[in-house]
Amino acid sequence: MKHRKDDPLIAAAIAAREKAFAPYSKFQVGAALETEDGTIIPGCNVESASYGLTMCAERVAIFRGVTDGFRCFKRIVIVTDTDSPTPPCGACRQLLWEFAPGAQVILVSLNGTMQKWHVRELLPLAFDAHQLGGPPESLPPPAADLAD
Ligand code: THU
Repeated sequence: MKHRKDDPLIAAAIAAREKAFAPYSKFQVGAALETEDGTIIPGCNVESASYGLTMCAERVAIFRGVTDGFRCFKRIVIVTDTDSPTPPCGACRQLLWEFAPGAQVILVSLNGTMQKWHVRELLPLAFDAHQLGGPPESLPPPAADLAD
C-alpha cells in the first residue's frame, strides 16, 4: 500500500523523523499521534551515550501527549527510511496498549510503502491495569477500534 503524503499525521511524523537524535544507531524514527479531538502530537527517537537510556519515538510522543493532558489516542504514524515499514518495539506496544488501545498503527517508509495495523493485533494477551485490580478512571477502556 502506498501512503498519502497529504495526510497531516503522516506529514507530522515525517517532519518529526528529521528531528531524531540518533548519532549512535543512525536509525531515525518519527512518530505522530492523533488525539480524539484531532490534535497532532509528534515524537522522535532520542539516543543517549549510555545506550540503554535511549527513548523510542513512539514513547516520546505518548509521554508528550500525556504531558499535554491527553489520555487516549486514535491513530499513530511511525516513519522510517527503510525498505519496508518498521514495526514498533515491544516496549512501545505496551505503552500503546495502555494509552491507545483502540488506535490504528500506520507504518510508513519514506519510499512510500505503508502498512496498517490495530494496536490490539500487535500485543496479544497484554498485561495491563486489569491485572493490578482494575484500570484507573483516567485511562481509556480497551475500546472498540477508533479508526479503520
Ligand atoms: N526505535 C524507535 O524509535 N522506535 C521503535 O519502536 C524501535 C526502535 C529507535 C530506538 C533507537 O534510537 C533506534 O531506533 C535503534 O534501535
